[in-house]
Amino acid sequence: MQTLTLLANNEGSVEQASRIIRAGGLVAFPTETVYGVGANALDEVAVRKIFLAKERPAWDPMIVHVSSREMLESMVIATLPVQFDQLFCAFMPGPLTLVLPKSPRVPDVVTAGRETVAVRFPAHPVAQRLIALSELPIAAPSANRFQRVSPTTAQHAMAELGGRIEAILDGGPCPIGVESTVLDLTADKPRILRQGAVTLEQVQKVLGEVVVVSADGPHHGQNGLPSPGMMHRHYAPRTRVVATDAQEKGLAELARQVSQRRVGALLPSGWKVSASVGFDWGSWGNWTVLASRLYAGLRWLDEQRLDLIVAPLPPAEGLGGAIRERLLKASAVPGNT
Ligand code: TXA
Ligand code: MG
Repeated sequence: MQTLTLLANNEGSVEQASRIIRAGGLVAFPTETVYGVGANALDEVAVRKIFLAKERPAWDPMIVHVSSREMLESMVIATLPVQFDQLFCAFMPGPLTLVLPKSPRVPDVVTAGRETVAVRFPAHPVAQRLIALSELPIAAPSANRFQRVSPTTAQHAMAELGGRIEAILDGGPCPIGVESTVLDLTADKPRILRQGAVTLEQVQKVLGEVVVVSADGPHHGQNGLPSPGMMHRHYAPRTRVVATDAQEKGLAELARQVSQRRVGALLPSGWKVSASVGFDWGSWGNWTVLASRLYAGLRWLDEQRLDLIVAPLPPAEGLGGAIRERLLKASAVPGNT
């Protein structure tokens, strides 16, 4: 199959993409976080094609993207938890995904057989327009092959899924660069299943107490991991990644230890580290910029035929928490669950 590139600044292109969605095809599209690959969420056959294109196992559920509160409410059962209103007002549209009890309208293939559905109302105008013109909720995981680095440009999405999907809507680079925060409202207490673009501190401000579930934590329910996508290795380039908490000194030390090999670094501006190749990541502490360049950096380093990629770990504060989690997962040893 030949994958069309459609320029999103042209209204005709977004219309064309919505016709592909309505006809049961797959379209990659920009959101404020990363590119997603979408299909009509109500069409079981179309959703199955996403699993095939991504080589994603059927047990990993997808997020349903909507373009209005009304559409969101039609995906879940009628009585919404009390926190819903507060969260909707504070963060939607935006990079927050809520896990809620699912409506019978949502096919099981979308939720991997769960009684819950993950819903998100993206802020990106192209994503909103595509959903609104399709007049359908769109099931969409990130537009990468399973366990690989999420795409933040149309070119990345093409490299991952070119030849496997009907079209890519090119809306330029994604402004945030890390995925949405996944917040589960179906447990006793609200719990964050995946840290992301809306920070823990921001959610706490609205809800008070919030639990953060770690992939290693004791919170695994009867279905195993509360969020199946939380398995260890994820967001990973092909090249091995080693991440360190020891900042500039630690990074320099890591690079020195393997100096006879080709080492690349995600390198904060001004840090002195003698790696074979450095990706100029941005100012340390400016987590907004570092988040937006994280996946592009990992992808670029992965193309440099290196033996190893080294990276410093941000502290678990604000958006740093999401970057930290991604780097820890990228550096997990393959084969770990
Ligand atoms: O920013 C984002 O969220 C992007 C853009 C495209 O919207 N999407 C994204 O989708 O990252 P994906 O499929 O790569 O990650 C969704 C995560 C997975 O870890 C999945 O296991 C979890 O959400 N998830 C989906 N439905 C769930 C459910 N019903 N219960 C628990 N976790 C769920
Ligand atoms: Mg993903």
